[in-house]
Order: sequence, then structure tokens, then C-alpha cells
Amino acid sequence: MSVSRRGFLQGLGMGRTAHASAFLAARGHEEYVAEAMQGRQGGRGMRPQLPPGVEAIRISSNENPLGPGKAAIDAILGKFPEANRYPFNSTPLDADLEILIAKLNNAKRESVVLGVGSQELLKNAARVFLSPTRHLVIPSPTYGDPAGFAQHQLKVTVKTAPVDPKTLKTDLGALLPLVKGAGLVYLCNPNNPTATVNSAKDVSDFIAEVRKTSPTTGILIDEAYCDYVTDKSFSTAFPVALATPNVVVTRTMSKAYGMAGVRIGYAVGQAETIRKMARYRMPYNVNTFGVAAAVASLKDPQHIKDEAVRNTAVREFTLKALADLGYTSTDSQANFIFTDIGKTMTAAAFRDGCAAKGVMVGRDFPPLEKTWARISIGTMEEMQKATDVFRSVLKPATTTSSGKGQ
Ligand SMILES: Cc1ncc(COP(=O)(O)O)c(C=O)c1O
Repeated sequence: MSVSRRGFLQGLGMGRTAHASAFLAARGHEEYVAEAMQGRQGGRGMRPQLPPGVEAIRISSNENPLGPGKAAIDAILGKFPEANRYPFNSTPLDADLEILIAKLNNAKRESVVLGVGSQELLKNAARVFLSPTRHLVIPSPTYGDPAGFAQHQLKVTVKTAPVDPKTLKTDLGALLPLVKGAGLVYLCNPNNPTATVNSAKDVSDFIAEVRKTSPTTGILIDEAYCDYVTDKSFSTAFPVALATPNVVVTRTMSKAYGMAGVRIGYAVGQAETIRKMARYRMPYNVNTFGVAAAVASLKDPQHIKDEAVRNTAVREFTLKALADLGYTSTDSQANFIFTDIGKTMTAAAFRDGCAAKGVMVGRDFPPLEKTWARISIGTMEEMQKATDVFRSVLKPATTTSSGKGQ
């Protein structure tokens, strides 16, 4: 069926939000890549065969189930008539977005670089700091993209330190002995998949220690999930990055901002550090729609506050449902939870059991996949249905727990 340009734009005009949400819905790169690496037909072959009328609940990729806010959707729709123009012939420009991000964070524009999602920035930081003689240091488990890129593309050694065995928090003390001579240390705060945070003080003390031990080592702090943190000891590492050479903080609009399909991320650091990363940026890497949506979203901070409150309520509901069954979760500070289901089954058995009933939970996270499962937070309605499925898949565990703090 062919759709004329006029008809398409008119279609968007009628029922704008519904059309645009469907248009923007994205699968989630992390899940897709992970499944492809596990040899499952590029991820898409994974969709379960469900009985007619049963919709899949996709809580596997840490996406915002509600999509972008109204301001972002309106901004995207408003840009369709300019889709024929190069981004430099449209407004806002990518420079306008960089200036806005800088202004909101008391920085200069030179301290900001945009990426096609934060993944481009993680890769570019790896390109800047790593080499075959300068290794990568990461906690284990953590977000897999930097280590995968370092090992497979850059042929760089990766040294890991396990997260704290009790709390599953990133063990900064255990990372320190690995940093001498490293090219880059990657911290994810809150950490994916464990959902835990390290306090602002612990992170800045750690950065100071790394700089003492290994002054030329870069430090990358990935704050993809920071908008969802409720722990008061956390705050952004932007001030440290702006004050310290070779320290970069990355952010994404794929999570709380609900724009995983729109692909906007940014990095903040000292001008010299950002300049090195920007050398790897593709021309016009961010597009007209993404820039317009990002500017509109950043001018609507209340939307993100409301999204965080919504997520916290649904997160508490989900943690309690699992705790009532006797399953312990970490202290989640993100839009996903990490739950110890090892008393009953492996993450793979849990995932397959849930998928058969239309609920898609997270992939394996070695080395914890025998005991821990990652569950993204959907809408309250989705999580009510999902927790019913969890009850039917998981047996009640023999001991009870609070659902927090382990
Ligand atoms: C910790 C972390 N960092 C970065 C990303 C990449 O996100 P994006 O490229 O969409 O900004 C993800 C995606 O799930 C993530 O979990």
C-alpha cells in the first residue's frame, strides 16, 4: 500500500500522539545486540508465538513505556515539513542543543558533544583513551557496550572487578588496583544491570584516587539512568567532569525522556577532553527531529520529574510483589530492577517461562545469570499483569525478604 506524503502528514495530524508513539516505538539496541550475540536471529526472531489477542509486555530493554512527552512529540511533528533540508538549514541547530545543555549545567558549549544516543559517545571515549597497550577497567557485571567494543573492535584488554557480593553495588575499592596504566575506567551510575548507585562522594573520591595512581587514565561515568535515582547520596558527576582533565560524563535521552528510537545522547567534560571525542563524530550525526525533540524536552523539566515519580511508584509495586513471593532485589535506583530468582530457576528459565505468557524480561547478565534476572519497569497496568505472570512462573521462595537492600 503506498501512502502519499500529504496523506502521511495528514495522518500524523489526526490523532497525533497515537500515531507518533507508534512511529517512535523502538526495540532497544542493548537487547537487540545481546540477542544477536547469543546467536538468536538478530533479536527479532525472538518474538513469542502468543495466543490471539494476547499482547506482549516488553520489559526487557529499560525503555520508558510511555514514550516521549507531548513537547517532544509536537516538536518532532513540527519538523516533518523540513525533512528535505539538511540539519544546518533547520532550527534548532545541533549547536543550539549543545548551548542549552551547557547552560543548564553551568558549562560552556565547548564542554558538550552530542551523540547518536550515548552509545556513540561511549565508543568515541573508548577510541580516545584506549589502545592495545592501555586497557579498560570495568565492574562486573555492567553495561556491556564499552567492553564489547574494546575487546572486539579495538582489541584491547578488559580488566574487571566483581560488584560487592552482598549489595551488588559497584565496588570502587576493588577497581582501584586495576587502574594503573589503564586507558579508561568505565563506571555506570546507576549501574546496569544491578540498578544500584554509588554516592557522589564515593565517585569523586574514586576519581581523585585514579588520578593519583594513574594520571593519564580517562574516567567515563555513564549516567543513563540518573533521572530515576531516589537515593539522596547520589548526584551527577558533571561538576567533577568539568573540573578534572580526562573525565567524561555521558547522558542519554533514551530512558526517562522516552526517546530510545530518536537517538540523542550527550557527553560533558573539559573542553580538551570533549574536543578529542568530537573528532570521531560523524557529520550531522544527530538529526533535525532529534534535536528539536531534545530541546523541547529539556525545556520541560516537569515532565521528567513526573516520569520519575511514576517510575518510583511502579518500581515499588513491582519490588513488593516479588518480595511478597520471597524474592530479594537490589536497591533499585533505575527504571529496572534486579532480582535474585536463583532459589527457583535461572534467568533463562524465568525469561522463557515469562515469554511463553507474553512477558518479555531482560537477557542473561553473566556472571550472575544463574541467579539474577533483570526486569524493566513498564506502566502500572503492565506491571500488574507482569507480576501475575511472575507469580505463575516462580514458585514462592522458602524465605521472605524486604525486597530492598541486598
Ligand atoms: C547504561 C547504559 N548506557 C548507555 C546505553 C545506550 O543508550 P543509548 O545509546 O540509547 O543512549 C544503555 C542502553 O540501554 C545503557 O543501559
